[in-house]
Amino acid sequence: MLEQLGRKFARFTTNQVVRRPRLWPAFRWLTRSQFNRIAPRWDEMRSPEAFASLEAALDALDVSPGRALDLGTGTGRAAFLLARRYPEAEVIGADLAEEMLVEARKLTPPELEGRVRFEQADAERLPYPDGSFDLVTLANMIPFFEELARVTAPGGAVVFSFSAGPETPIYVPSDVLRARLADQGFAEFADFAAGNGTALSARKRGGA
Ligand SMILES: C[S@@+](CC[C@H](N)C(=O)[O-])C[C@H]1O[C@@H](n2cnc3c(N)ncnc32)[C@H](O)[C@@H]1O
Repeated sequence: MLEQLGRKFARFTTNQVVRRPRLWPAFRWLTRSQFNRIAPRWDEMRSPEAFASLEAALDALDVSPGRALDLGTGTGRAAFLLARRYPEAEVIGADLAEEMLVEARKLTPPELEGRVRFEQADAERLPYPDGSFDLVTLANMIPFFEELARVTAPGGAVVFSFSAGPETPIYVPSDVLRARLADQGFAEFADFAAGNGTALSARKRGGA
């Protein structure tokens, strides 16, 4: 019952905030509390195929990031995936919910310690300088397009993935993502489907 309500709240929040980002402060506290509460069980709630579409998008991207950011990292699974895929990269997993970060730090494999780190941050206003990241991933995460564009380096890539496609509680349709990203100077859009999930990749204009 509580889970059902949580899923409905996540969908409602996503729809509202994508349309009107200025509403986010009204949703922030409840979103953070909700994810803090479920953090210890988050990994059990997810399907083993949760990142299939993210992997498919990364397979197709020609990138070798020096710095990568996984926004809304939760228990850090996508951050670990990035660190393994790009052995030269420094990877940051950022999340609003501190209990998620507690889990992510516990789950960090010894061989990735030092190269992956987890930081509390709000995607609406990130504590990183302009153009900090060559790759930003958002798995099942509410996007803040202006801030995403600000921290992505010219020529850098972003990947949005949704583990259960349109059934994902936090879901933004590809046409909406494309339009909002285009407004922020992104191009080269590509859609992917794998497992039950979908993904979209894009590149920020500029760069070499
Ligand atoms: C549905 S979970 C996805 C977690 C992880 N990416 C995954 O797929 O397993 C969404 C995550 O985004 C975080 N989140 C929501 N809004 C955020 C924001 N504005 N800034 C940073 N993290 C946020 C939540 O705390 C939660 O951990």
